[in-house]
Amino acid sequence: MTGPLKIGNHLLANPVLLAPMTGVTDLPTRKLVHKLGAGLVVSEMVASRELVNGRKDVKRRAEGSQLDPFVIQLVGSDADLMAQAATIAQQCGAQIIDINMGCPSREVTGKLSGSALMRDLDHAQSLIDAVVNAVSLPVTLKMRLGWDHKTINASELAIRAQQSGIKLITVHARTRCQFFKDTADWNAISKVKDVVDIPVIANGDIKTPEDAKAAMESSKADGVMIGRGAYGAPWLPARIASVLVEDFDPGPPSRDTQRDIAITHVEDLLVHYGTFLGLRNARKHMGWYIEQCINLDKESLKAWRRLLCTNDNPKQTLTDLARCFNDPTSLADMELCA
Ligand SMILES: Cc1cc2nc3c(=O)[nH]c(=O)nc-3n(C[C@H](O)[C@H](O)[C@H](O)COP(=O)(O)O)c2cc1C
Repeated sequence: MTGPLKIGNHLLANPVLLAPMTGVTDLPTRKLVHKLGAGLVVSEMVASRELVNGRKDVKRRAEGSQLDPFVIQLVGSDADLMAQAATIAQQCGAQIIDINMGCPSREVTGKLSGSALMRDLDHAQSLIDAVVNAVSLPVTLKMRLGWDHKTINASELAIRAQQSGIKLITVHARTRCQFFKDTADWNAISKVKDVVDIPVIANGDIKTPEDAKAAMESSKADGVMIGRGAYGAPWLPARIASVLVEDFDPGPPSRDTQRDIAITHVEDLLVHYGTFLGLRNARKHMGWYIEQCINLDKESLKAWRRLLCTNDNPKQTLTDLARCFNDPTSLADMELCA
């Protein structure tokens, strides 16, 4: 295993990062995953133009001053706006800024940002330069392998990024045109690793400690980033870190601990967003928790989901969530057939 991972002056506790995921890695979720032992957690992407314009929901995504290190990910296509947004991010307390050149969504690439930047490396580098020069913080970059299989250019972008002062690169081992299809090609990341001296993080389809070991080996990366594998399993990055760093797999926490983590998570979401929005944000997490943690047959999973995800009463929802963990067979026939 490689030595400790450093981003600027920030020495990470371990080389396992939580991926930025819009609609998922809000502040309560990042705080939880970090507290459980992830080496680094990254904000949802923050649109530079909207941050500069002070849009309320976008400003909320840029919250995180209770985290150390506190990373804000920016996305955009205009160098001036990216520089202004980076300055605002620094004022918000960010200690590291990540630039998103990996998002495949049409809404983002249509504005020539996210992974669309991999089609125009001069423009991509001008954005990197703008951000690096605007702040006194370390700046990192997240990218894909390229736009499509005919234009794999992650290594070229990585070399330019390093020249411009980027301190760490994460590669999601798919092209933009693959979106989330096929499997991540961890081996392709090794080509990026070969051409830069800064740390490289492997991302894509890492859902188990075994995946993480295999990804480290084929990519030769300095660490891994976990996204969807942490759905309903916020302890997974810490568990993987233990395997990679200490060669010891503690396994998942006990069912009771999982229940307590899930309940605290939902309570934190209710405090962060208020009851109405909090419950709506908590629903996907509750669905993932019960799917991940409890061995339910298809019908029962559906019924518990319906029960947990349609109730507008937070107290009752928390009681039902605990009941699902404690006694998964306790659904009345009526609830099963609803
Ligand atoms: C719901 C969702 C939202 C995402 N949002 C972002 C984002 O805001 N910024 C980003 O760089 N990548 C985003 N991604 C991509 C992830 O960071 C990650 O690269 C991808 O999911 C592959 O990793 P995984 O296989 O471990 O999930 C998102 C992915 C998902 C599933």
